[in-house]
Amino acid sequence: MGKFQVMDHPLIQHKLTIIRNKNCGTKVFREVVNEITMLMAYDVARDMPLEDVEIETPIAKMTAKQLAGRKVAVVPILRAGIGMVDGFLQLIPAAKVGHIGMYRDEETLEPHEYFLKLPEDIGSRQVFVVDPMLATGGSAIMAIDALKKHGATNLKFVCLVAAPEGVKALQDKHPDLDIYTAALDDHLNEDGYIVPGLGDAGDRLFGTK
Ligand code: URA
Repeated sequence: MGKFQVMDHPLIQHKLTIIRNKNCGTKVFREVVNEITMLMAYDVARDMPLEDVEIETPIAKMTAKQLAGRKVAVVPILRAGIGMVDGFLQLIPAAKVGHIGMYRDEETLEPHEYFLKLPEDIGSRQVFVVDPMLATGGSAIMAIDALKKHGATNLKFVCLVAAPEGVKALQDKHPDLDIYTAALDDHLNEDGYIVPGLGDAGDRLFGTK
């Protein structure tokens, strides 16, 4: 079974409260999503492999550590996932970025894939799939399906707010997947929104309605 982790660091929790507030405007929402993602990326990258490298400090030669060069891809689920890309790139600037476009049928709430563009060596990369909201789990399941079909094997899913229903659905379909979230909320309402959640993450990031 993959890992399921609620990242309850006080800075993450404090910043999450800022963006949950309905009075938080687009500019601050976007900035704080970026900050939360950076804090999460720091910890999500904890098991990236290191290797030894011989260097010389101004004082002495030493054997130091550097990332072992396993390449990284960040894959946002469009469109809200885009808000989480920069937080990763600020810490892992050499990462490549793939995109998966999903839209939710407003009536059935079923996800549909409409766009897919991945780095061609996705199979050899550590892949961080990002989407702020894990609601029904439908888009995340389809995105992970598509990534596996294209050869990705090393996958982690990173979101800001998860509903128990979505976590269960995603774990049932992809039990090998590691899932990281800043909060596990109460439930989904009949419109597919997470309660208490933060509303429509895409609209709040991009100022649409
Ligand atoms: N997507 C969102 O943006 N918000 C929710 O609450 C659920 C799905």
